[in-house]
Amino acid sequence: MKIHIITIFPESFNSYFSSSIIWKAKDNWLFELELHKLNDFSSDKFKRVDDKAYWMHGQVISPEPLSKSIEFIFEKEWKKIPVIYMSPSWDLLKQEKIEEYYQTINWNFIIICGHYEWIDQRIIDLYVDYKISIWEYVLSSWEIAASVFLDAFIRHIPWVLWNNTSLEEDSFSKKFDRKKEYPIYTRPEEFKWKIVPEVLLSWNHKKIDEWKINNLS
Ligand SMILES: C[S@@+](CC[C@H](N)C(=O)[O-])C[C@H]1O[C@@H](n2cnc3c(N)ncnc32)[C@H](O)[C@@H]1O
Repeated sequence: MKIHIITIFPESFNSYFSSSIIWKAKDNWLFELELHKLNDFSSDKFKRVDDKAYWMHGQVISPEPLSKSIEFIFEKEWKKIPVIYMSPSWDLLKQEKIEEYYQTINWNFIIICGHYEWIDQRIIDLYVDYKISIWEYVLSSWEIAASVFLDAFIRHIPWVLWNNTSLEEDSFSKKFDRKKEYPIYTRPEEFKWKIVPEVLLSWNHKKIDEWKINNLS
């Protein structure tokens, strides 16, 4: 799977993709990443990619460089691939939705990160297949919204998580009726007068499973 990100700030993804689980998955070729700097597709001599919005406050990403960058990727891939655009006002991202996206996309795709107020509507009309909101608040950084989506998405790729049980038994999983995970403990058995529930020390798997189900919220 190859993830193409179109952005004005490719460097803002460096720290995210160079640590922990995501770095390891990329390093093991479980997915590939290609960052495309939007300004490289501008025909303006100063490499500008924005312009004033018609009858609205703020600047907007112009359609030409964005369209060129998308077409460039389509050509490289030899075909049209899904295009995702992040926005506060569309489909809210939930675990069920992530699972659905993983099933339907599950191949190379593009994420557009714009800048300023918005991108020209015609790009959305012409190219965008998935419009995804990470929840009902407004961020200033498109790259953060894209990273949130990617983080939740990438963990579904086989072998990204060492232990597939965590995918199956995490909060909002189908197995747990989309409820929140039960409380989790480690050693020591007692900490500041708080004790690990007795059943978890019992080695009685049936009772432990029952306890887990009863402690979902
Ligand atoms: C300042 S916001 C633009 C807000 C836009 N003018 C509006 O009112 O909906 C800049 C960009 O960050 C991204 N963004 C901000 N909040 C988001 C959210 N909750 N979910 C997904 N993307 C978000 C979107 O790509 C958005 O276009």
